[in-house]
Amino acid sequence: MARITAGIASSHVPLLGVAADMGKDRNAYFTPIFEGYDWTREWIAKPEVKPDVIILVYNDHASAFDMKIIPTFAIGCGERYKPADEGWGPREVADVEGHPDLAWHIAQSLILDEFDMTIINEMDVDHGLTVPLTMMYDAPDAWPVKVIPLAVNVVTYPPPSGNRCWALGEAIARAVQSYGEDLNVQVWGTGGMSHQLQGPRAGLINAEWDNMFLDGMVGTTQKLRTIPHIEYLRETGSEGIEMVMWLIMRGALGHETRALHRHYHVPCSNTAIGHIVLEPVDGTVPPSSTLEGTNAAAQAAI
Ligand code: DHB
Ligand code: FE
Repeated sequence: MARITAGIASSHVPLLGVAADMGKDRNAYFTPIFEGYDWTREWIAKPEVKPDVIILVYNDHASAFDMKIIPTFAIGCGERYKPADEGWGPREVADVEGHPDLAWHIAQSLILDEFDMTIINEMDVDHGLTVPLTMMYDAPDAWPVKVIPLAVNVVTYPPPSGNRCWALGEAIARAVQSYGEDLNVQVWGTGGMSHQLQGPRAGLINAEWDNMFLDGMVGTTQKLRTIPHIEYLRETGSEGIEMVMWLIMRGALGHETRALHRHYHVPCSNTAIGHIVLEPVDGTVPPSSTLEGTNAAAQAAI
C-alpha cells in the first residue's frame, strides 16, 4: 500500500532558481535562505525518508496555462515534463519524471470522490515546481524522485477556498491509501508566504501573520481552513493567496502533524520565504461518503 510519510511546504521564489543556477546560493544575500534548507536536504536523502514519489502542489504562472484555459485543480498524468521558458529561456535543470500509473489512479479516485480534476498529459512546469526541487535536491543530472504535478489556479480570481483545498488533500490521502504498490509518497505545498508583486502595496511583508500560519500547520488545529480570501489579500498581499496550496498538503497529512523543521526569513526577492517539514502523527482522514456509497464498486475495481 502506498503511504504518505511526510509533507513539505515551501515558497517557490524564482530568484532562488537563478541564484542556484549561477552558483551564487552561498553569497551574503542568499546564505541565510539556502542555509534554512540544509536540514531538509540531509533529511530527505536518508534511505528511511527518501520518497519514491512527490505529489507536488504548485501554481503555474502563465507558463503552461494562460487566459485561454484556467483549470482550478489539474493533475499531471504524463511521463515527463520539461522546465518552462519563463522569459530567460528554460532553466537548465533535469526534466521532471512523472508517475503516470499512480497519477491516473489518483485522478480516478479524486473524480469518483467528486473532485472534478482537469487531467493534463502534456505540459511544461515553471518555477512553482522546479524551484522547490532545487531547494531540496540541488542540481542532479536526474531528479532522484518521481513527481506528480498538481496545479492550482491562484492567479486568476476566483482561486479555490482554503477549506476546499484542505478537503482535496484529504481526498488525496484516500487515493494514495488505496494504491496497491508499496510506495513512499510525500506531498509538497508551494508558494507564499506574504508577498505582493505589483501595485501600491508591492513589497508587502507580514511576518506576524506568516508565523501564525506556520503555527497553524502543526498539531490538530483546523483553523487555517476557514481563512477567507480577503484576509490573505489584506494581510499577506495579492500573491499571499498562494498559501491555500499549503492546505492541500496539510489536509493530506490527516488529523495530527508534528513539525520536524521550520524556517522563515525576510527578505527573499519580494517575498517572505517560509519552509516547514511535517510528519503525520495520526494520518486519519474522514471517509468519503461518495466512495463509500454510489462509487464504491468503481473505486474497489481500481
Ligand atoms: C516572486 C515570488 C513568487 O512566488 C513568484 O511566483 C514570482 C516572484 C518574488 O518574490 O519575486
Ligand atoms: Fe508564485
